[in-house]
Amino acid sequence: MSWIRDSSLTWAQLFCVRVLKCGVIPKHVAFIMDGNRRYAKQTNVKKLDGHSKGFDKLAETLQWCLDLGVSEVTVYAFSIENFKRSKDEVDDLLRLATQKFQRLLDEKDKLMENGVRIRVIGNISLLPPDLTKLIAEVELLTKYNNKAILNVAFAYTARDEMAEAMKQMVEGHRSSDLDLSDINVQLLSKSLYTMDSPYPDLCIRTSGEKRLSDFLLLQTAYSYLYFTDVLWPNFTAWHLLAAVFHFQRAYPTLLKVRSSLPKPPLSDKAAKFLENVEEKHWKKAAIAASS
Ligand code: FPP
Ligand code: MG
Repeated sequence: MSWIRDSSLTWAQLFCVRVLKCGVIPKHVAFIMDGNRRYAKQTNVKKLDGHSKGFDKLAETLQWCLDLGVSEVTVYAFSIENFKRSKDEVDDLLRLATQKFQRLLDEKDKLMENGVRIRVIGNISLLPPDLTKLIAEVELLTKYNNKAILNVAFAYTARDEMAEAMKQMVEGHRSSDLDLSDINVQLLSKSLYTMDSPYPDLCIRTSGEKRLSDFLLLQTAYSYLYFTDVLWPNFTAWHLLAAVFHFQRAYPTLLKVRSSLPKPPLSDKAAKFLENVEEKHWKKAAIAASS
């Protein structure tokens, strides 16, 4: 199935979307897409088919988010911990991702028409070279798309992301690009893979598990967390609409808490440092894409 789909909302769901749009729509929604294997077991299909259904649901959910006016979506597709699963399952998941990123490139006209930027956040160096190359190609192709952003967390954990950010800052300090006084929460946040993205307003986890499992730990510090029992492949637009409704109810409190948070400024030196980090990222991507 394609990443970009036509809208599949029913008239009743469209009506609810219109009602919800009278309130605040989350700018950035994060998803922990959990329950693919339990779905596979329940429906008597192979694990891979469960993950495949999970991908189809991701594509569908993206379109619902676009229909709602959500401008950024981040999905937890493969954690570093997932490498500990059986070799067969890891190989299947990596193959599935390779097929899907290839499909994205094959459908590039559709992707560009929709103006969706795709970013892969994670420790790409842990992935096989053919997948790394495809990811770099997709990121370069969509770099300037600005209607919506899809962040795919792949070979990701938040603790690894923070450790990588720390390493960069330590290197920056060693090379005198950063003074100790330039290092603050703002710089740490912008040194993460999500860079300048606004923090998620809403984080949804399916399958009844109530934890973050090392996903966007810094970025979700003040997000509204929504847990639902539905297994990811069974997620529907109704579940999304319910999550947004609960987010809207909590929004006034969320806003109050968020506006009382200190916002340490980013020094000029730190801004320059971040520019260099981004430049290095794109240079690496260009090398990977042409390899
Ligand atoms: C969690 O369910 C799901 C995953 C570990 C994989 C999610 C991957 C996809 C939805 C495909 C995405 C592909 C691309 C290219 C973005 P689980 O396996 O933990 O299931 P369980 O909780 O029932 O055991
Ligand atoms: Mg799981």
